[in-house]
Amino acid sequence: MKYRHGGRRPHVIVVGNEKGGSGKSTTAMHLTVSLLKRGFRVGTIDLDARQGSFSRYVENRLAYIEATGMNLECPEHRRIYGSTRDIQEVAEQEEKQSLQTAWAALDDRDFIVIDTPGSDSSLSRLGHIMADTLVTPLNDSFLDMDMLGRVELDGDEYYLSPSVYSQMVWEQRQKRAMDRLPPMDWVVMRNRLSHINARNKKDIGQLLEQLSKRLRFRIAPGFGERVVFRELFPKGLTLLDLGDATGDVSMSLSHVAARQELRQLLDVLNLPGNVEAQPASSVDSVGVAAGATPMTQAAAAGADSSRAAVLEEAKAVSEA
Ligand SMILES: Nc1ncnc2c1ncn2[C@@H]1O[C@H](COP(=O)(O)OP(=O)(O)OP(=O)(O)O)[C@@H](O)[C@H]1O
Ligand SMILES: [Mg+2]
Repeated sequence: MKYRHGGRRPHVIVVGNEKGGSGKSTTAMHLTVSLLKRGFRVGTIDLDARQGSFSRYVENRLAYIEATGMNLECPEHRRIYGSTRDIQEVAEQEEKQSLQTAWAALDDRDFIVIDTPGSDSSLSRLGHIMADTLVTPLNDSFLDMDMLGRVELDGDEYYLSPSVYSQMVWEQRQKRAMDRLPPMDWVVMRNRLSHINARNKKDIGQLLEQLSKRLRFRIAPGFGERVVFRELFPKGLTLLDLGDATGDVSMSLSHVAARQELRQLLDVLNLPGNVEAQPASSVDSVGVAAGATPMTQAAAAGADSSRAAVLEEAKAVSEA
């Protein structure tokens, strides 16, 4: 399956981790709205259609817009169910076809954000092959770390070996290299960081640092533990809408800090189209000149800095 259209194709951000409840759908929605608010055209795909949290998030947003008449940005959304066919090859073919159809509907976008299920499936693997950027939210616990690298204790020393999920990511990276797709930039972001257990936070930080070199991912700071994430979902809102949605969930200092974390995540992701170069004050602005999205402007200027950051890795993967 080739994910290209004309000379340019959308940059695909996949949010994945086989560990359930790590914050994938929440992160997918926040990245989507961040990009929309910066004037990019964004398509979204829910590969966890059976649970459908990402789809529900988008539906809740549409319902909120309908109820309040507010002018909030929304992505063009597609929901893809896993095939129910018994024969594996037939099922995989059907899933490929569904993905291809969704891709064809969204391939004029600047970005496609894909949410994946918290378990292994052929559909999730197909989604991971598409990742130009793979974002893996990781809850700050040893149990969740185990999904990336098996944490074993030898006396007083922890050591790590690759887990099933990181092996799966490695395989999809190799498939991308064989398909001559750009290398995948894998970014692990820590989620639900707590100020209470500082020792745990430090231990996990050190292990993650070791693992990042071995598995070739980058580490993003991620989000603290914040109640607001649970409050926003029923209204389909994100942290970035709070100023607009006055009266519903009002802004607090914690929300301001959370927005800052989201901006930092975008900076670290280093996405094409100068996403990271947007000044903080323009995060909430929507207006762009007709027909000229930040992506096309950046493309015209030949600016695509994210590629350079992962070229070295591309070489390593294709040589593997
Ligand atoms: N930083 C955070 N602070 C507090 N709550 C959070 C945070 N991130 C996510 N949550 C909450 O954790 C729950 C799980 O998040 P989410 O649904 O995004 O995870 P998921 O990885 O998509 O789960 P699944 O694997 O089941 O699809 C949700 O109730 C969400 O609001
Ligand atoms: Mg989810």
